[in-house]
Amino acid sequence: MSATRIDWVGEHCRLLRSIAEEFQRTQPFQGLTIGTGIHLEAKTVALILTLRRGGARVVSTGNLNTTQPDAVEVLRAYGVTVIGEATKSREVHDAHLREVLAATPDLILDNGGDLFAAFLDSPYPGLRGGTEETTSGRMRLAPLRDELRRPILVINDSPIKQFAENEHAVGQSALESYLRFTNRATNGENVTVFGYGACGRGVAHNFRGAHAQVTVVEVDPVTRLRAHLDGFRTPDRSEAIASADLIVTVTGQAGVITAADLPLLRDGVTLANAGHFPHEIDVDGILAASEVSDTSSYEDDLMSVDLADGRRVHLIARGHMFNLAGPRPLGNSIEAMDLGFALQARCLEAVARGAVDASHCVVPVPGDIDAAVARSYLDQRYPAGEPVPRGSGAKV
Ligand SMILES: NC(=O)c1ccc[n+]([C@@H]2O[C@H](COP(=O)([O-])OP(=O)(O)OC[C@H]3O[C@@H](n4cnc5c(N)ncnc54)[C@H](O)[C@@H]3O)[C@@H](O)[C@H]2O)c1
Repeated sequence: MSATRIDWVGEHCRLLRSIAEEFQRTQPFQGLTIGTGIHLEAKTVALILTLRRGGARVVSTGNLNTTQPDAVEVLRAYGVTVIGEATKSREVHDAHLREVLAATPDLILDNGGDLFAAFLDSPYPGLRGGTEETTSGRMRLAPLRDELRRPILVINDSPIKQFAENEHAVGQSALESYLRFTNRATNGENVTVFGYGACGRGVAHNFRGAHAQVTVVEVDPVTRLRAHLDGFRTPDRSEAIASADLIVTVTGQAGVITAADLPLLRDGVTLANAGHFPHEIDVDGILAASEVSDTSSYEDDLMSVDLADGRRVHLIARGHMFNLAGPRPLGNSIEAMDLGFALQARCLEAVARGAVDASHCVVPVPGDIDAAVARSYLDQRYPAGEPVPRGSGAKV
């Protein structure tokens, strides 16, 4: 029997599989519409189909640049309404968001705050609340609490999401993507990571594990101290830029690297962004700079920029999140996403059942949901009656 990558991912999303079986019986979303604005790729297929099994009608669109055609095809085959295809255009993306909201979803599953922000532009009655996946979305939605006034649970602020996905999985997938995109060695290269939050820590540690010499630039002094004590170089920003062969931004902030930094860049440096929005590296500003004499675009979303003084700067995925771009993008590991999406499914269930109210507007995942998801994951690894963890190598 032939099977697809989406089947492979679905098979290894073990938490979602057991939640889907339970939802099939309990139908928490019966009669409800869920609007989703999240990357459409193999792992989100498993999440969205889990919500479908719980009785939801689902209307979905992707995020900028990350929609994968095979994921769209499968979702449509299962009766999910998918709006649009991959786009890098903000205007086209905004039109897709408006189309999702035209279905007046009862619940929203957001990634980056796009759908909730668009909802406030033209509100409708009946939105119960929902979930937000990311740091960037939380930063955008927190100041809007007075207008949103509904339960919105921020998956990113679960400790599980922080360590399983942001730290371990983003670090692994950023390294995997760099190798896949460029086919270039990391050994002995100078890698400068901007931002030492959960994601930045993972990126820094994974590149160090791949034998790069890693430097961290961090604006918060306490976090910079942490990076220093973790053994990374933390010189001032200019020195960190000037010594880098690869710069990775992962801060959640705009304009981290701009055309003003061009004089500092080393010949042959590569710029990549792992932060949610493609504004951490100001690619348009760099391309418009007077120092730029020529550009070359390679296949697979790689680009080189020639500067008038002979230096070359390489750009991966034009500043879009590079662990979800380029040839055969795999994104974060299945297990990490299964954990995060189990939190998503349980949080949406809590909002649908009225277990949380408007006092839970843009707040972390409730602790009982974290504990239940952690317990389920461990129970699957160490089933009752099995005295020794599988693979431990211990003798019985
Ligand atoms: N690529 C992925 O798969 C993926 C997954 C999860 C989150 N994200 C995104 O990654 C970004 C970072 O997430 P996080 O959870 O690590 O956030 P975080 O808030 O924990 O950490 C960001 C860090 O960047 C620092 N910072 C801010 N501006 C800076 C600057 N100009 N220079 C240097 N440091 C700066 C902050 O002080 C902070 O320590 C967000 O945009 C988030 O949405 C990406």
